[in-house]
Amino acid sequence: MSGASAAPPRVPVSPRAPVAIPVESPSVWDRITNWASENKAIVYTIAGVAVVFTGAGVVYYLNSDSTLKASAEPRLSKKERRKRKEADRQAEAQRAAAPSPDSKQKAASVESVDELPEINEDTVTNFTEEQRKEYSLKLKNAGNKAYGSKDYNRAIDLYSKAILCKPDPIFYSNRAACYNALGSWDQVVEDTTAAINLDPLYVKALNRRANAYEHLEQFSEALLDFTASCIIDEFKNESSAAAVERLLKKVAEQKAEDILKSKDPSKLPSPTFVSNYIQSFREKPRPEGLEDTNDIQEDTGKGQLQQGLQAMDKKTHEAYEEAATAFEKALELGGLDEYEALAYNLRGTFRCLKGSQEEALLDLDKSIELDPSMTQSYVKRASMHLEMGARDKAADDLEKAIQQNDQDPDIYYHRAQLHFIHGEFQDAAKDYQKSIDLDNKFIFSHIQLGVTQYKMGSIASSMATFRRTIKNFEKVPDVYNYYGELLLDQGKFDEAIQKFDTAMEMEKQTKPMAMNVLPLINKALALFQQRNEFSEAEKLCDAALIIDPECDIAVATMAQLLLQQGKVTDALKYFERAAELARTPGEIVNALSYAEATRTQLQVQEKYPQLAAKLQGMGAGAFPGGR
Ligand SMILES: *[C@@H]1O[C@H](CO)[C@@H](O)[C@H](O)[C@H]1NC(C)=O
Ligand SMILES: *[C@@H]1O[C@H](CO)[C@@H](O)[C@H](O)[C@H]1NC(C)=O
Repeated sequence: MSGASAAPPRVPVSPRAPVAIPVESPSVWDRITNWASENKAIVYTIAGVAVVFTGAGVVYYLNSDSTLKASAEPRLSKKERRKRKEADRQAEAQRAAAPSPDSKQKAASVESVDELPEINEDTVTNFTEEQRKEYSLKLKNAGNKAYGSKDYNRAIDLYSKAILCKPDPIFYSNRAACYNALGSWDQVVEDTTAAINLDPLYVKALNRRANAYEHLEQFSEALLDFTASCIIDEFKNESSAAAVERLLKKVAEQKAEDILKSKDPSKLPSPTFVSNYIQSFREKPRPEGLEDTNDIQEDTGKGQLQQGLQAMDKKTHEAYEEAATAFEKALELGGLDEYEALAYNLRGTFRCLKGSQEEALLDLDKSIELDPSMTQSYVKRASMHLEMGARDKAADDLEKAIQQNDQDPDIYYHRAQLHFIHGEFQDAAKDYQKSIDLDNKFIFSHIQLGVTQYKMGSIASSMATFRRTIKNFEKVPDVYNYYGELLLDQGKFDEAIQKFDTAMEMEKQTKPMAMNVLPLINKALALFQQRNEFSEAEKLCDAALIIDPECDIAVATMAQLLLQQGKVTDALKYFERAAELARTPGEIVNALSYAEATRTQLQVQEKYPQLAAKLQGMGAGAFPGGR
């Protein structure tokens, strides 16, 4: 979720970055996600396995030297990654086309099994131990031969008899290979499970079962098996490691879909988010006739509109909910006359905030139809289009708005945002400047201009912009917050902390009831990412969550904080909560990837206690922390 405007500078604007409605940069969310990979840091370890969160996703590594090399590999571009994945996939397909069953044991003479006595459940009890062993080997070898000539049904029969003689994990796994070739996934699961029960660290069986689970679309189960297999294999098998990443994404996407479906459409996101969106437009005086008053006529559309506008100024969660309800009622009651276009604009705004994009768009269409001169409706519609990935439509709306009023500074600010999120910093800077030229009272144009200059590499101009802005907006906390972010990026830790402190203090003084929690989170992130000061960071997150319990970035920060301290179970709860609170599909998937990686690690630990022992025996376990 995006902050009021600025982005953490070094973080590249990634194409998948969710366009939070304030039409801004990806921000704290990406900062949470990216710091690990940027700092080549290992986030946490369980039984010697490190989970590294990278921009590409969550990657597990064994916590050893080879690991560090692996995680320090240059980040591949999206295209390269896709290419590599495709190569992996093809290699895998080839292997799958010509699988060979296991043959760990020395081949016994493969003479005709026809010479063997009849073998079934009844006769087998009559053989001696020696005989059973001998027969089982002959049967297995014959089975391998049948498998080699793709006579799967015969191979299954032979392996079945071998299993009767001696329940050996290899025989089960080989029979599973036959079922695999026949695409009988349920039976693959059954046989590999039998093999794994006999030999819990049997990697080939685990991989085979994982593959079957994937075909059965039981992605969580597949993920668990591949993860265990990677750990046993010490992450030497790249295709298994790739499978873990692939499945993490699948599981996260699947669960994200469930979350999106069950999301309460009548619920607003956190007040931090709502305020940030609303303040991305310049404050306008109330339209005549809608000023604050103590005797609102609640049974009229106009009265409701008035009530909603008053509530919006309070900036708390309850007040925003009240506003949303009031705007719905206003249009139900009707009789709005000259205020009708505004009512549609406002109802659409809150519907959009609640995530009902389609309905919100219809409201803005209606608002524009009723009053084409209300440029803000075009701008809001543009931001919705942008959030839905329709850049052209967004640009078109902004163009139409300019045709209505080419002196409206809001339009240029939002066009700048559009350029900014697409990485077109020159154009963005030009539009921020234009917005400032038309009205220099709006602080976010200044802040964003500074951030944009920073992104363009003009550090000196950027710093100058911030210093000037602080001079002109001495009492506005936001400027200190974003200045702090840029200072932090330049390694000026103490100065940055000072700015966050100033921002926090001002927030407390000016808006005690509706404090913006971003400076708290920024300070918490700085403290724990750069100084490993966990308890202080945790206190800040706690404070942020008391002010805004629904703030997803605060929740996500807390989750990472807990994770890095090894409080894995608690971390999982916070990651899940972050996913519930996240607003866009991209953010939800992001939060869920962390949650699933964490959950899987816990499950592996529980299910394979012998793995933990094995890994600890390898002397892993140190965890380097940040930097
Ligand atoms: C088992 O062996 C006994 C004696 O050798 C024989 O009588 C019996 O028929 C055998 N049972 C089966 C099921 O072959
Ligand atoms: C690597 O793992 C894949 C399954 O993920 C498996 O098919 C392949 O045989 C494994 N390769 C080695 C060398 O173990």
